[in-house]
Amino acid sequence: MASYLQIDDDEKGYDLDLFCIPKHYEKDLEKVIIPHGLIMDRTERLARDIVRDMGGHHIVALCVLKGGYNFFADLLDYIKTLNQISDKSVPLTVDFIRVKSYCNDKSTNNVKVIGGDELSSLSGKHVLIVEDIVETGRTMQTLLSLLNENRPKMVKVVSLLVKRTPRSSGYRPDYIGFEVPDAFLVGYALDYNEYFRDLSHICILNDEGKEKYKV
Ligand code: IMP
Ligand code: MG
Repeated sequence: MASYLQIDDDEKGYDLDLFCIPKHYEKDLEKVIIPHGLIMDRTERLARDIVRDMGGHHIVALCVLKGGYNFFADLLDYIKTLNQISDKSVPLTVDFIRVKSYCNDKSTNNVKVIGGDELSSLSGKHVLIVEDIVETGRTMQTLLSLLNENRPKMVKVVSLLVKRTPRSSGYRPDYIGFEVPDAFLVGYALDYNEYFRDLSHICILNDEGKEKYKV
């Protein structure tokens, strides 16, 4: 079972005034729950675990857009660093896919893959899917079944966050950064109707923010 850093339900987080928050979001957030530095430290360790397990082969890193892009970029930087400093190194290529399942703060049953290269190019490859957050698990399960139709040699999933929620289907990724409470989180590329991707820390959205950016 994947180990992870657990953020408890009663985690108080950090006051917004202690960090640099863009002015345009100051009123829309309740608190900082995972500061950017902690995300980076945990990501560095995930990179090491992934290289240890998958490092014998060429890895195709598949970024699940848009929410995964920040984590993807930072994780790959750490993997690149490991490749540069160790005696063994693996070629790493990248691919991108776009998936959409959310409206306002609710996951919908309708998981849509709306872009990216042909999944058939992943046939016979060692694929690492890089995702921002797993909530119900439906997005990842849909993506995995689409991918498996194209017969990759191996598929591993790394998700920065997994939400503790009764809505979970039970699906767990192979690598997990943090397990988080059942709240709506934004920042570090996680969005609410496309807003808050331009925020470095992972924060809890407040009701004012939900209202302001509702569609
Ligand atoms: P699932 O299909 O319910 O597991 O949801 C996965 C997708 O929903 C993620 O890839 C995110 O794009 C989105 N999502 C779930 N929870 C959150 C959240 O708290 N903030 C932002 N996006 C979320
Ligand atoms: Mg996502």
